[in-house]
Amino acid sequence: MTIPSAYGAFAYAYDKALGERFFKAAQRVLDDVMRRHPTHERTHLDLACGTGLAIAYFASQGWSSIGVDASMSMLGAARERAPRRLVCGDIRALPMRTTFSRVTCLYDSLNHLKNRADLVAAFRAARSVMRPDSLFLFDMNHPDVYPAIWGMKDPYVAEGTGWRLEIATLYRKRDATGIARVSGFATLAGGVKEPIRERHEQRAYSEREITDSLAEAGLAAIEVRDFDPYNESDTLAAEGVKLFFVCRAVS
Ligand SMILES: C[S@@+](CC[C@H](N)C(=O)[O-])C[C@H]1O[C@@H](n2cnc3c(N)ncnc32)[C@H](O)[C@@H]1O
Repeated sequence: MTIPSAYGAFAYAYDKALGERFFKAAQRVLDDVMRRHPTHERTHLDLACGTGLAIAYFASQGWSSIGVDASMSMLGAARERAPRRLVCGDIRALPMRTTFSRVTCLYDSLNHLKNRADLVAAFRAARSVMRPDSLFLFDMNHPDVYPAIWGMKDPYVAEGTGWRLEIATLYRKRDATGIARVSGFATLAGGVKEPIRERHEQRAYSEREITDSLAEAGLAAIEVRDFDPYNESDTLAAEGVKLFFVCRAVS
């Protein structure tokens, strides 16, 4: 089992261009799910925690969180928000034995897993840290967004003070894989301008593949909702943008 390559300087620009914007929308869904499923025990595990946005959200509501991510540079950015309880690890083989009342995995992180066996491994790992009353909350991209958005000719471009990000994407139908070439720069601590040059891949999964993988791992969705964080659905040739799952362990 190999750990995917780190995000590098992308972590800083990711946070500014993508992470914060995404989390504003994700927070509305989380607020609703958390209100409808209250719990006394406030222990939270964030899988593929990235720059720590979910950890900061849970902490602001009195939860104790642990974040796991494979990228040291994403964890470095997370440390700014959540100085403690960050673990470098692979979400397919979690390095912990305790259980949590809420487990999250946000911003299509599970689409980074390139085949169904890996997706099932990540679901089994999530299941292993859940009790019967725990909930696992995650979002994945609707498969239609890969041809509709990742297949677009024009790159996504964003810039701000001290950073620039350009993401050119393509969709390879034969293995349902989206490929992103990321370039730009981020000016890091000490004024060092660090180039961004990375390649990321994502796999498109149908809702059926996701629910079958959940079942193989001993999990069941109690809710699946359409999630359109940037209100794009009307402008896209896609039946959905993202799917947000709320799951329980089944015995
Ligand atoms: C799109 S980012 C999302 C980060 C964060 N969840 C958020 O909402 O901003 C995807 C994250 O998944 C992490 N990741 C991808 N595959 C992973 C794996 N197998 N184990 C742990 N982390 C992984 C990457 O390092 C990256 O931080």
